[in-house]
Amino acid sequence: MTNVNRSDMFISHDTGAYAPQKPVLITGGAGFIGTNLAARLASLGQQVLVFDNLSRAGVEKNLNWLTTTFPQQIHIKIADVRNKVAITGAVDASSMVFHFAAQVAVTTSIDTPMRDFEVNAGGTLNVLEAIRTSRHRPAIVYTSTNKVYGQMEDLALAVSDNRYEPIDSSISASGFDESRTLDFYSPYGCSKGCADQYVLDYARTYDIRATVLRMSCIYGPHQHGNEDQGWVAHFIKQALEDNRLTIYGDGKQVRDILFVDDLVNAFLLMQSQTEVVGGKVFNIGGGPSNTVSLLELTDMIGQIVGKKMSLRFEDWRKGDQKYYVSNTSKFSNLTGWQPRTNTNKGVGLLYEWLAGEHKIKAHRVQFQEAQVR
Ligand SMILES: NC(=O)c1ccc[n+]([C@@H]2O[C@H](COP(=O)([O-])OP(=O)(O)OC[C@H]3O[C@@H](n4cnc5c(N)ncnc54)[C@H](O)[C@@H]3O)[C@@H](O)[C@H]2O)c1
Repeated sequence: MTNVNRSDMFISHDTGAYAPQKPVLITGGAGFIGTNLAARLASLGQQVLVFDNLSRAGVEKNLNWLTTTFPQQIHIKIADVRNKVAITGAVDASSMVFHFAAQVAVTTSIDTPMRDFEVNAGGTLNVLEAIRTSRHRPAIVYTSTNKVYGQMEDLALAVSDNRYEPIDSSISASGFDESRTLDFYSPYGCSKGCADQYVLDYARTYDIRATVLRMSCIYGPHQHGNEDQGWVAHFIKQALEDNRLTIYGDGKQVRDILFVDDLVNAFLLMQSQTEVVGGKVFNIGGGPSNTVSLLELTDMIGQIVGKKMSLRFEDWRKGDQKYYVSNTSKFSNLTGWQPRTNTNKGVGLLYEWLAGEHKIKAHRVQFQEAQVR
């Protein structure tokens, strides 16, 4: 029996009577973050239903890896979150929902805003409706984005050779918390922000255990980054292929980056505490101790590969924040979560994985425990 059929078995017996254990549903489960969560859940012996339309280039490789590594735990439904029947069946069959499926690139959203809205806002509403109308109303975690806070042009910044830094040092020390004003920017910001608000409102209006994570930049293995999305992986790939890298803007823009294993740790905490985190929104990222500018990252990659990266510069992209760092205290105080993988180590681990994917012999990376800054 193929994995696809096994997933249909879960769906056809949606009372759970024949399913030994209802699987955890991951929409977008073949994607970067979905694959990392699916692998961790499967390695803990949990059943996982991966729901994905495989629209992201490269993710079929993730799916093959998942099914060969965890043949007993991974079940597959190849379908689109815009398909109400398919998503309703998958939700009915599941014990909990991690909703990651999305059109993920700001650039693509600017080119095709209608499709972006249908997938990100409409798809999320389909998932929420499937939960609301189900008998068992599984909890949901939704991955939103820091883009809901807009370009943050009001932030007073100083600029050095390599990075922007807030003039108010308390912002550098703690980052931005969830009280920051919402200011959706770009069709992607609007569609993700719309879904973010629907998820929170379904918790409020329908008493569903629904949680929103507003995530900064996540990076790690199984990330098929490209120029439009997944920039840490994209930068490393360009270095491995000895290509000149295009930087949009001056490269001094700063982000807090979070290694995907740490994000998966956060998901597991949420899975075990759905009542505690339900109805809440959290900012999640590497936080103030894991910040890096684009230029600093290219320096770090140059040191790893043993060759300075060649760069060219283009105009700023619309809505690009010059400085964004998450304040993760709300989630940390509630659950005890902390990021454990510092930037040097995480970038080294991603380099090793990408080198393996490109069949390039990786240098041995000396993981420095020191922070970037
Ligand atoms: N990676 C990050 O840094 C980051 C930051 C903030 C928010 N997010 C959010 O996290 C989620 C996961 O991101 P990711 O980095 O793993 O992206 P990804 O592109 O690797 O994964 C998304 C997956 O969703 C699937 N998908 C796309 N449209 C679909 C549809 N209509 N129906 C079913 N499946 C569909 C894709 O095939 C892909 O496998 C997304 O919602 C994204 O907006 C990611």
